[in-house]
Amino acid sequence: MADLTTSYLGLKLKNPLVVAPNPLCEFVGNLQRMETVGAGAVVLHSLFEEQVAIDNLGPKALQLDELPHNLRHLPQADLFTHDAGSYLAHIVQAKQVLNIPVIASLNGYYAGGWVEYAQLIEASGADALELNVYYLETKGTVSGRELEQMYLDLVTRVKASVEIPVAVKLSPYFTGMAYFLRKLDETGIDGMILFNRFYQPDIDLDSESFVPSLALSNQEELRLRLRWTALLAGKLNADIAITGGVHDFGDVVKCLLAGGQVAMMATAVLEHGIDYLAEVLAGLDKWLDDRGYASVGEINGRLAQHNVKDASALERANYMRVLKSYGKE
Ligand SMILES: Cc1cc2nc3c(=O)[nH]c(=O)nc-3n(C[C@H](O)[C@H](O)[C@H](O)COP(=O)(O)O)c2cc1C
Repeated sequence: MADLTTSYLGLKLKNPLVVAPNPLCEFVGNLQRMETVGAGAVVLHSLFEEQVAIDNLGPKALQLDELPHNLRHLPQADLFTHDAGSYLAHIVQAKQVLNIPVIASLNGYYAGGWVEYAQLIEASGADALELNVYYLETKGTVSGRELEQMYLDLVTRVKASVEIPVAVKLSPYFTGMAYFLRKLDETGIDGMILFNRFYQPDIDLDSESFVPSLALSNQEELRLRLRWTALLAGKLNADIAITGGVHDFGDVVKCLLAGGQVAMMATAVLEHGIDYLAEVLAGLDKWLDDRGYASVGEINGRLAQHNVKDASALERANYMRVLKSYGKE
C-alpha cells in the first residue's frame, strides 16, 4: 500500500482525493460517509453572495428595487437551501463530527460582505476557505485589466482578514492566464482551484425562451486543467487543486502527474454515489503499487513543464501537430 498522504493549503490530508462543493455536502450525514469511505477533505457547498446580501439587508431584502444596483439580479431566496446563519451552523456541525479538513466556500463577485463572512466562517471552525469568484461582465464597461484587479483586491482583502488558509477557484477565461495567476500568487494566496465550470443557459424550443440548464462534466474537460496545471506547477507558491472532469482513479493520477496537490470530484460522486470514492482510492493505490511508487509524492509534478525535457505538447506547437495528425492514427 503506497503512502497517499499529501498536504494542501498547509493542511495534512490522508490522500489527495477531495470532494468538490456539490449538493451532497449540504448534509452532515453525507459528509460523514465521505470521510468513512476515504475522502481526504471535503469542500462544503457555497455560501452565495446573494445570501449574504439578503442577510445583511434584513427581511425587506427581497424588495428588489431596494437592493444595491449591482445585486438587482438577485434570484428568489428560496432557491437557496441555506441562509448565511445556517451555513455557519453547518460548518460547526461538520467540524463536530469530522476529522478530515472541512473547507468552506464563499461564492460571489462583489466585494461587500466577503471579509465579514470570511471571518465568521473562520470563527465557525472551517479549516480553510475557498473563494469562488464568479463574475460575468456583460455590459462591456469593465476591461480585462480592471476585472483582474477586482479579483486581486478581493483576494488580498479576504486573505488579510483571516488566519485560515484561503484558496481561490477560478474560471479559465483570462486572456493572460499565466501572468494573472502569477499576480494572484503574489497576494500570498494559499491555493488555486483550476477551473470553475460555467453553466450556459439553453434555449427551449417549446417556450422559445432561455432556460437554465445543468450539465454535469465529462472527462474531456480535464485536459484544459491538466495543461495549465503542468504549465504552472512548481512556479507558484500556491498549491494547485484541479476540479472539472475528474471522474476516475486515472484522472486523479493525471492530476498528480501534472502537479496538482489534490484532485477534486463532484460529478462522479453525484453520478456514482459517495461510496465510489473508495473505488477511486483503491485504483490510485493499485496504480502506484503496480508501478513501484511508494508514495503520491513520488509522482507529484513529474509531468510539470519544468520537470520534462520536451514540453512541446503543452505549447502552441502541439496545436498544428494535432490538427495534422487527423486520419493518420
Ligand atoms: C449540482 C452542482 C452543484 C455545485 N455547487 C457548487 C457550489 O456550491 N460551489 C462551488 O464552488 N462549486 C459548485 N459546483 C462545482 C463543483 O464543485 C465542481 O467544481 C465542478 O462541478 C467541476 O467538477 P466535476 O467535473 O467533478 O463536476 C457544483 C457542481 C454541481 C454539479
